[in-house]
Amino acid sequence: MRTAVTPEGVAAIVFTADEIAAATTRLAGDIARDYRSEPVLLVGVLKGALFFTADLARALPDTLDVSIDFLAVTSYGNRSASSGEVRLLKDMSESIEGKHVLIIEDIVDNGLTLSYLQDLIGRRRPASLRSCVLLDKPYRRRVDVKIDYLGLTCPDTFIVGYGLDYQEKYRNLPYLARLEPWVFQEPA
Ligand code: PRP
Repeated sequence: MRTAVTPEGVAAIVFTADEIAAATTRLAGDIARDYRSEPVLLVGVLKGALFFTADLARALPDTLDVSIDFLAVTSYGNRSASSGEVRLLKDMSESIEGKHVLIIEDIVDNGLTLSYLQDLIGRRRPASLRSCVLLDKPYRRRVDVKIDYLGLTCPDTFIVGYGLDYQEKYRNLPYLARLEPWVFQEPA
């Protein structure tokens, strides 16, 4: 049953803001330990990873040499299921050749987006390439992808919030939530 504190269409909170923050802090600790003496370039994948990239970057120790860039891809369009086709909408603004690149993703579902990005960035000769993912749906995989830093395993339900959308709505929610089934119904 929907509680009074969640917006219309939200059925239940799946991960609270505190749970997201705890996972982010843990990931930042692991990343800081591994990149201690190396500069790292965080590449956030828009739009979904907008907030995760910002929060992860701020959770890293200020002694770490951190740069941030973004790219934008889309595979879902306005649907709740992936189209299976990944499109690059915006490229990074700087060359990544010779840099230690860490891809920051909000979610890995069928894996096509991360696989596409690992291939795209890998061909540009970075010094190293790893990925940091907040949410994983491992049971949905269509292609194998390597996730180096994983925050949370997601239940088998479509979720929104903390950057994730349904038809561009709900990205601003500070938690991750599942939607009421009626939200997905086409208007008559
Ligand atoms: C979502 C999400 C990931 C990708 C994961 O992006 O942010 O980038 O899908 O799905 P996959 O593993 O099945 O490829 P989306 O295409 O919805 O664009 P958005 O981030 O702008 O919402």
